[in-house]
Amino acid sequence: MAAISWKRLADASDGWAVILIVLMVELPLSFETPRLLVRAYRTGDSAWYWRVGQRNREHLARHEADNPIRTLASEDEAKALLESFSTAWQEGRAFFLGAFLKSTDSFVAQLYVGLHNPGVPEYSIGYFGDEAQGGRGYVTEMVTVGLTLCFEHLGAHRVRLECDDLNTRSLGVAERCGFVLEGRIRENHRHADGTLSGTLHYGLLRSEWAARRA
Ligand SMILES: CC(C)(COP(=O)(O)OP(=O)(O)OC[C@H]1O[C@@H](n2cnc3c(N)ncnc32)[C@H](O)[C@@H]1OP(=O)(O)O)[C@@H](O)C(=O)NCCC(=O)NCCS
Repeated sequence: MAAISWKRLADASDGWAVILIVLMVELPLSFETPRLLVRAYRTGDSAWYWRVGQRNREHLARHEADNPIRTLASEDEAKALLESFSTAWQEGRAFFLGAFLKSTDSFVAQLYVGLHNPGVPEYSIGYFGDEAQGGRGYVTEMVTVGLTLCFEHLGAHRVRLECDDLNTRSLGVAERCGFVLEGRIRENHRHADGTLSGTLHYGLLRSEWAARRA
């Protein structure tokens, strides 16, 4: 595990909140799986990252409506977004990585890992796949990297994942990766087309992750 130090401080808002201070984080910037290179973005990625957003705008409209990649207006905006990812990484708040085929270097998917509750510590995982690369198991393979990052490098006790209860492809990813369904909120989201859906809450504990790897 990377060297991470934690310090508890009184927080002005409630006096008890835990503020994570990452005194030193030596996270790897890239990971390999059988088919993928999963790596932190670089500002030099802005040109193709903008094009990924352009071509996936509709693909992401229902379940990633607020993802900023959908509304990038220019390569310069993509560069600014990638710079914000880099800042979040340095601060230990959130980690955005792209997954690329080792054979062709093509972009296949994006992984998000975010600090959700430092007191546990608990991280969130999110993702989307390039529409052209769907149905080949790349997102599932990439999410295993997210779990490795959380449990082996960030010291997570648990990892959470939320998904729309009608998003069968996303819940398939969660379940293939070993996440346990912990709850379902019914009809709490109204989509742009007026239809309603609920939210599935998944979690994976460190002990469950270790048991799957044993
Ligand atoms: C959700 C999303 C990421 C899932 O993408 P996906 O392509 O279904 O996921 P994977 O890359 O893991 O591929 C899994 C599919 O490939 C198949 N597959 C083929 N080879 C495989 C392999 N080696 N390993 C695993 N699965 C494989 C699986 O059977 C599965 O197909 P199925 O759903 O018909 O059973 C994608 O639909 C997406 O980007 N949606 C929009 C954004 C979104 O919903 N994000 C999630 C918000 S919570």
